[in-house]
Amino acid sequence: MEPSIQLTSSGRLKHFLSVYGLDNALLTEILDTADSFIEVGERNIRKVPLLRGKTVVNLFFEHSTRTRSTFELAAKRLSADVLNLDISTSATSKGESLSDMLKNLEAMASDMFVVRHSQSGAAHFIANSVTPGVAIINAGDGWHAHPTQAMLDMLTIRQKLGRFEGLKVAIVGDILHSRVARSQIRALNTLGVEEVRVIAPDTLLPQHVECLGVKVFRQMAKGLKDVDVIIMLRLQKERMEGGLLPSEQEYFRLYGLDRDKLALAKPGAIVMHPGPINRGVEISSDVADGSQSVILNQVTNGIAIRMAVMSMAMGGQNECKSAIREAAE
Ligand code: NCD
Repeated sequence: MEPSIQLTSSGRLKHFLSVYGLDNALLTEILDTADSFIEVGERNIRKVPLLRGKTVVNLFFEHSTRTRSTFELAAKRLSADVLNLDISTSATSKGESLSDMLKNLEAMASDMFVVRHSQSGAAHFIANSVTPGVAIINAGDGWHAHPTQAMLDMLTIRQKLGRFEGLKVAIVGDILHSRVARSQIRALNTLGVEEVRVIAPDTLLPQHVECLGVKVFRQMAKGLKDVDVIIMLRLQKERMEGGLLPSEQEYFRLYGLDRDKLALAKPGAIVMHPGPINRGVEISSDVADGSQSVILNQVTNGIAIRMAVMSMAMGGQNECKSAIREAAE
């Protein structure tokens, strides 16, 4: 993907499609902006007027609980008008093409589309075809990217451990089908952690995964040694074509995070998971609910991160709109 599609010529965010193409300074700006919104969530009146008068459309072509509801809350806390489109009952199921549907939504003066789609590249496709001035935020596309999830994970790591330098982070499980892992690996490397590891059986690793900037481990005992952060992933069965695993019990025995395996990491290491979690498949209940788990902090931080990227992208689009107005005068 050409990096410039999501940036204005002055380097500000105007879409948020991927963490690829964004440098350390911009990722840090997203985290710092999100930090300032955490306080808004703790106020009596949890609203700021940054998106007042703007219309945000949530376009979810794939199911979601956390991501969709935290995007909705984020837009409402920024004072936007929010439209949630249930795609299964929309006209695309009557044969309307995606671009026709988007043109109709643009005709309703939408300012931002938050898009989740099962096809990799969907958000990028929409960003290329949408009218200038409308921001596109990727809420997960196929196996490709889930940049707001990666950024809320980065915010949680910085909040809990105070830095990225010197950290060793292990991402465990179904790397192959995970858009979350792809975005996390890139964000962690850009923000300058010491080492990103992936731990998985061969059948759940993408080919040449080491080229993404990770150290590959096939065994938990070796891979978890000395890590500061453990990120567990769900087995994405909806994307598997069968035969990749012997059984869930066997998977849990080898790769599931229980108390014994957690003891291999650094004392005080934090345990993360993007959700939804499958207890007893990738993580035991005592670890998921234990003192080292920050899984629910991740959910809370999702609101602040989404407020940050929405307000930043709207700022970038406003720059574009003034340029368009000036050119037309
Ligand atoms: C992830 C997703 O949808 O990619 N979940 C999420 O957004 N919270 C990961 C998953 O579904 O396992």
